[in-house]
Amino acid sequence: MTVLVTGAAGFIGSHVAHALLDRGEDVLGLDNVNDYYDVGLKEARLRRLGPRGGFRFLKADLEDRAAVTGLARSEPGIDRIAHLAAQAGVRHSLTHPHAYTAANVEGQLNVLELARALPGLRHLAYASSSSVYGGNDKAPFAAGDRVDRPVSLYAATKRAGELMAYCYSHLHGVPSTGLRFFTVYGPWGRPDMSAYIFTKALFEGRPIRVFNNGDMRRGFTYIDDIVAGVLAALDRPPETSPPHAVYNLGNHRSEPLMRFIEVLENAAGREAVKEFAPMQPGDVKDTVADIEASRRDLGFEPATAIDEGLPRFVDWFRAYHGHD
Ligand SMILES: NC(=O)c1ccc[n+]([C@@H]2O[C@H](COP(=O)([O-])OP(=O)(O)OC[C@H]3O[C@@H](n4cnc5c(N)ncnc54)[C@H](O)[C@@H]3O)[C@@H](O)[C@H]2O)c1
Repeated sequence: MTVLVTGAAGFIGSHVAHALLDRGEDVLGLDNVNDYYDVGLKEARLRRLGPRGGFRFLKADLEDRAAVTGLARSEPGIDRIAHLAAQAGVRHSLTHPHAYTAANVEGQLNVLELARALPGLRHLAYASSSSVYGGNDKAPFAAGDRVDRPVSLYAATKRAGELMAYCYSHLHGVPSTGLRFFTVYGPWGRPDMSAYIFTKALFEGRPIRVFNNGDMRRGFTYIDDIVAGVLAALDRPPETSPPHAVYNLGNHRSEPLMRFIEVLENAAGREAVKEFAPMQPGDVKDTVADIEASRRDLGFEPATAIDEGLPRFVDWFRAYHGHD
């Protein structure tokens, strides 16, 4: 049996693929290796996966309907899908809206059509995002909260993906689980996210831009904790009717942005020059996860504090970029 991991060249997808291989699964990775950020980083992630036994890679675009749905015939052994490929990033969605509907709506539809056509599909676990909570001012964010007020097109496409998955569960009995990730960080992380941007600026001696004058909090979540949650979800198809569930995978302890920066400064051994800036359109001031249901059903526990996780990220960053 094979697990299809979409977004295998990406941050979360590559870690999930490693974890599946670690427990002896066969993994088919799929990614279009696009240039939304440094392709070299995606290729480096793939170079670490490539030689591992049980791993195969298919370079394909989610929007290529024939390539994606054709896997039902060419790879009938796929019994689970971890669908982690997407056009991510809130800010980019302000300037490149069509990339989001293409990858996250059209792409989601193609993955759902594949799931429907696969003869032995047991479960599709797919990435959603805490951004679906939008302007929700009730904290922490719980899976049952209102999610009909997205403040970015990225969030709107992620919510659309959840609704489409629900619909395929209802109409075609496709078992699926949406995972709303909250600000994930760690080694091999994304260059468009704060941990990477700040660390890069620290090592290059450039100022960092601190949005909303630093008055923000995030449920920063370490990659290993997220991976454990993804695997636990994948192993547990919903038993509800229709078979669809949504869980938060995030930290229930939100950290002030300024403390996040302080821990990074300590790990890097450098002090940041901070440029305070207003809130960015599409951004949310505070994200913190209610994980009661994820704990109960998936045994999810975000055990890694930023004091432990950020130094690990900085160690990786130093080694990868060759900083002393
Ligand atoms: N990292 C986070 O903090 C975070 C938070 C919330 C949600 N998410 C979601 O988690 C998932 C994984 O995120 P990530 O941080 O690993 O992002 P990432 O950008 O590192 O990984 C996504 C991968 O998908 C691939 N991809 C994009 N469009 C594609 C297409 N049309 N066809 C094939 N491949 C395509 C990209 O090349 C990339 O390698 C995404 O769905 C993202 O929206 C991430």
